[in-house]
Amino acid sequence: MSRTWDLRSDTATTPTADMLSAMVSARVGDDVLGEDPTVNELEQTVARLCGHESALFCVSSTMANQLAIRTHLCNPPESLLCHWDSHIFKYESGGASLHSQAQMIPIKPSQLNLTVDDIRSHFIQGTLLGHRAPTHLVALENTLSGVIMPIDDIREISEFTRNMDALVHMDGSRLWNAAADEKELREYAGLVDSLSLCLSKGMGCPVGALLVGSQQFIDKARHFRKAFGGGWRQAGILAAAGLYAIKYVWPTMPATHMQAKRLAQGLESLGYALALPVHTNMIMLDNTKSGVSTEELSQALKPKGVILGAVYEGSYLRIVLHHQIDDECIDAILATANVLAK
Ligand SMILES: Cc1ncc(COP(=O)(O)O)c(C=O)c1O
Repeated sequence: MSRTWDLRSDTATTPTADMLSAMVSARVGDDVLGEDPTVNELEQTVARLCGHESALFCVSSTMANQLAIRTHLCNPPESLLCHWDSHIFKYESGGASLHSQAQMIPIKPSQLNLTVDDIRSHFIQGTLLGHRAPTHLVALENTLSGVIMPIDDIREISEFTRNMDALVHMDGSRLWNAAADEKELREYAGLVDSLSLCLSKGMGCPVGALLVGSQQFIDKARHFRKAFGGGWRQAGILAAAGLYAIKYVWPTMPATHMQAKRLAQGLESLGYALALPVHTNMIMLDNTKSGVSTEELSQALKPKGVILGAVYEGSYLRIVLHHQIDDECIDAILATANVLAK
């Protein structure tokens, strides 16, 4: 069978034989009763890595984010501020209004990422005689489209938000990519009240995400998770994949990021325009500014077993790398792009 490489998303991984064997040999119990030893180990490991008191293993990052919003916002009507292009705003089925009766206020940043000035100028204080929904939560995303949010911006936003008696949640689905090691992960996590971390993206697991925060916050989120139908039983087989990924897949990310940079530089030199800088595993090609058609590139790569996504929102082609993309694939893309450029 000929090989294929799927670069539409870092969710397009398949569990490796070693990951599967860790899953098969996991010790399990009933997690609804708190008795699954492998889930408990994963939750404790991730809480410790983040320097927070507790963590909750969830089916998805969407669930982890929505539980965070529901748990933080308990006095509707309230508002939350977020990046206009964030997953929470665009791709979680309007969950904040559905589950938490919250108004989402999307902000188009004045520069590459949100800064404290963006947050300050959109922050709603008080109700204005009952007309407005006060801001009680700021939701950041890191990485967002592969771009790492500078730690100083997070720190400033966090200080401002906490001074305003509001809270900060980070959708850190791809924080593994932003943080090169445990020290950096703890540094990011220490600046927010809660964060979600995904296991089924670059970490290569089939299912799962973690919500992290204080013990009180996680206890309440666990209660909501049950109400959302997210209580699960012998989930240790999935948690084992997470523990495996932290040990063996997370350390492979720097190599993936190097591959992404090599591919991006190669494509740029052939006339493709980058819509965003390549910090981690994602390349966003700007179709409107590229000298060469990204659609043509997608079509030409198909017979070679390389799957690229459709053009995103009319202008962008998103190429996402992960630990199962190898140099052979990068070479194939560059060789095809080279032929098309001639
Ligand atoms: C930044 C970000 N947050 C959250 C999610 C939701 O993840 P899940 O598919 O696990 O619900 C995604 C999914 O792509 C994402 O990219």
